[in-house]
Amino acid sequence: MKYNKIIKKVNNELVAFGNLGNVASYIPELSAVNTSKFGVHLTTIANQHASFGDADEKFSIQSISKVISLTLAYKIEGENLWDRVGVEPSGTPFNSLVQLEHDLGIPRNPLINAGALVICDILITHLSSPKEDFIAFIRQVSGIPTIDYCNRIAESEKSVGYKNAALINLMKSFGNIKNDIDVVLDFYFNLCSIEMTCKELSQTFLFLANYGVCPFSKEIIISRSKSKRINAIMQLCGFYDEAGEFSFKVGLPGKSGVGGGIVAIHPNKYSIAVWSPKLNEKGNSYKGIKFLDLFTTETKFSIF
Ligand code: DON
Repeated sequence: MKYNKIIKKVNNELVAFGNLGNVASYIPELSAVNTSKFGVHLTTIANQHASFGDADEKFSIQSISKVISLTLAYKIEGENLWDRVGVEPSGTPFNSLVQLEHDLGIPRNPLINAGALVICDILITHLSSPKEDFIAFIRQVSGIPTIDYCNRIAESEKSVGYKNAALINLMKSFGNIKNDIDVVLDFYFNLCSIEMTCKELSQTFLFLANYGVCPFSKEIIISRSKSKRINAIMQLCGFYDEAGEFSFKVGLPGKSGVGGGIVAIHPNKYSIAVWSPKLNEKGNSYKGIKFLDLFTTETKFSIF
C-alpha cells in the first residue's frame, strides 16, 4: 500500500473541513500550543514509514499514556485487575463523576480518568520506583530511550487538578484507592505529561498491532490474549462519549489525548499517530478524527 501517497491525498481533502474547535485551556500550559500544528506518522509492522507535516515535533500525549499504564498493570495483576476497574464503555466525558458514586467507586473502564487513577494506584503498589520504572517500560515498548515526562506540564495540571482530586477522593472513600492520594495524583499527572512526536507515538503502539510483540526487538510486551483485550478496550472506550462515533467513522481501535494526539492501530498492519491541537466538544482532536475517517475510507481497510 502506498501510504505516503494516501496520506498526502487525504491531507488535500482535509483542507475543506477547516481547523475547528478549541485547545484544552483547562490545563494552562496546553493552551500555549500553536493551533496550526498538524502531523501524521504511520509505521507498519514491517518497519515501513509514512509521514506528513509536523510529525517530528514533540507534543503532550496526555490520556494516550493510559493505554501503556494499563498494559503494565495488566501484565503485573493479570485478570485480578478487573476486580478494581471495569471494561464497559462509560458513555460519559473522561473526567465525569456521575457514574462513580452509583458504581461504588469502581470506574467503568481503565481509560476514563477515574480508571486511570486506579491503574496508577495499582502500579504504585507494585513498582519500587513508579516514575522511573514506568518511563523505563515506555522506553522498552517504544525502543526510544529519550522519551520523558514534562515537569512543566505536570506541574501546570497539578495546580488546577480539582476534578481528578474529586474523583480520587470519592474512590478512596469506597476503598478502591490503597495508596496516599497525593502520591497517586502526582504519578497520574506525570504520566499525562509525557511528550512524544507522532513518529515516536506510532512506534510505541506497534506492539498492539502485532499481537503483543514489539516487531523491532521481537520482545513479548504482553501476551496475545491481553493484547486483544487492550485493543477491545481502546475500541470501546478510547474516545469516551465519542467512542461509538470514532468506531463508526474510523473502524480502528484508538486512543485520544487532550494534547490533540490520536493513535490508532490496524492489527497485523500498522500503527498511525495524528496530532492537531484543536479539540471538539468531546475533548478529542477535531482534525485528527477527520483525518483518520478519510484515511480508512481511502485505504478501504479497517477492522470491520
Ligand atoms: O486528567 C486530565 O484531565 C488530563 N491529564 C488528561 C485528559 C485527556 O487527555 C482526555 N482525552 N481526551
